[in-house]
Amino acid sequence: MAEPKKLFIKTYGCQMNVYDSERMAEAMGGAGYVETQTPDDADMILLNTCHIREKAAEKVYSELGRFRELKDAKPDLKIGVAGCVAQAEGEEIMRRQPLVDLVVGPQSYHRLPQMEAKTRDGAKALDTDFPEDDKFDTLRKRAKAKRGPTAFLTVQEGCDKFCAFCVVPYTRGAEVSRPADRILEEARELVDRGVREITLLGQNVNAYHGAGPAGDMTLAQLIWELDKIDGLARIRFTTSHPNDMADDLIEAHGTCDKLMPYLHLPVQSGSDHILKRMNRSHTAESYLRLIERIRAARPDILMSGDFIVGFPEETEEDFQATMDLIEEVNYGYAYSFKYSTRPGTPAAERSQVDEDVKSERLQRLQALITQQQRAAQEAMVGRTVNVLFEKPGRQDGQMVGKSEYLHAVHVTDSTIQSGDIVPVKIVESGANSLSGEILRQAAE
Ligand code: 5AD
Ligand code: SF4
Repeated sequence: MAEPKKLFIKTYGCQMNVYDSERMAEAMGGAGYVETQTPDDADMILLNTCHIREKAAEKVYSELGRFRELKDAKPDLKIGVAGCVAQAEGEEIMRRQPLVDLVVGPQSYHRLPQMEAKTRDGAKALDTDFPEDDKFDTLRKRAKAKRGPTAFLTVQEGCDKFCAFCVVPYTRGAEVSRPADRILEEARELVDRGVREITLLGQNVNAYHGAGPAGDMTLAQLIWELDKIDGLARIRFTTSHPNDMADDLIEAHGTCDKLMPYLHLPVQSGSDHILKRMNRSHTAESYLRLIERIRAARPDILMSGDFIVGFPEETEEDFQATMDLIEEVNYGYAYSFKYSTRPGTPAAERSQVDEDVKSERLQRLQALITQQQRAAQEAMVGRTVNVLFEKPGRQDGQMVGKSEYLHAVHVTDSTIQSGDIVPVKIVESGANSLSGEILRQAAE
């Protein structure tokens, strides 16, 4: 039998790219490829790229340049670019870097095996269309192999919000929700393969409105359907937009035991002027009131957010309003970025804030967030949390998992296996994780 060919995928950016890379690997498995962890012995290299922040395309070109020697040594090596840079740059990639055989946008991954076949005949393959069909349905190979206890599952893709700084509506296209039956079937398959926690993914996940048996379903309705799956213990979802935080979803946080008490709800800025210029269509006040309602439903929920500092025209006063909002919300976690121009988006044309000012503001914001994050972690010390264990830790006999609040938790205990959900008493809070002791008597 011929040796299987080897596929190396390098994934950049968000969790949706991680999910997409898994699906691409499965699809190429059907075309005789197995995954390898290094480009050196690969027959095909795929860069699954991200375009969300600055110089993404330049980074991809310099990464591609590094494969020249490999291609010289193995002329049959196929090099492909996938993801949002592929979507944004298209054919230009092959023009600028002739090493590239294949360019595939996020909506065309189901056509990857045919594209690879085309490159074997020496042709180049490009596909950055936005087709109507459900690519994930075609992509999902009925792989029954066991897998780790946590998985991502894409339920929705694209975005119609057009925030003035963001490329997603251009690279991922208009908002599309997958039909509920396909999602539920995929979730059941994942559970059969050992998955205990599913994170529903979408650029605008709470705008989910996929077809159900009696008309379109909301995200909360989908979560309640997932709740019925035996063996599935935990449900999460990301990323949400404040304007799509529907009443039934807020309520589910209080009533659905499988829905974890962690919510990523980006606000981007605390200044109403900047929010308006960002085209966010919510105010600082409406965001704060929303969080009040979410906390009324689930008082212990851990909030996380995204922030952009130095958006065009941002004054010190605007920035201070963001700091005030952070103080008021008290986040358990946050991602923060300096604004960077994305060509083709409205904000790219506006008067920009100095780089030094941006850096200085980012530092101040991150110091405040770090303080809140540490406090949230320290508040866990002495408490008992349920931990879903995922893998061995760095030290001998150590296992690492996540609490309901998404904190990484370490224990040293040789009886714990990946996939176990066990109550752990937290004894210490480190820089980025907690450590604890297993509570034997109450174990599941
Ligand atoms: N500059 C900086 N940050 C950005 N993000 C999106 N576009 C930009 C940009 N042009 C951030 C937002 C978003 C997160 C995924 O990335 O905070 O929520
Ligand atoms: Fe981008 Fe999110 Fe705004 Fe959509 S809602 S445009 S994905 S930042």
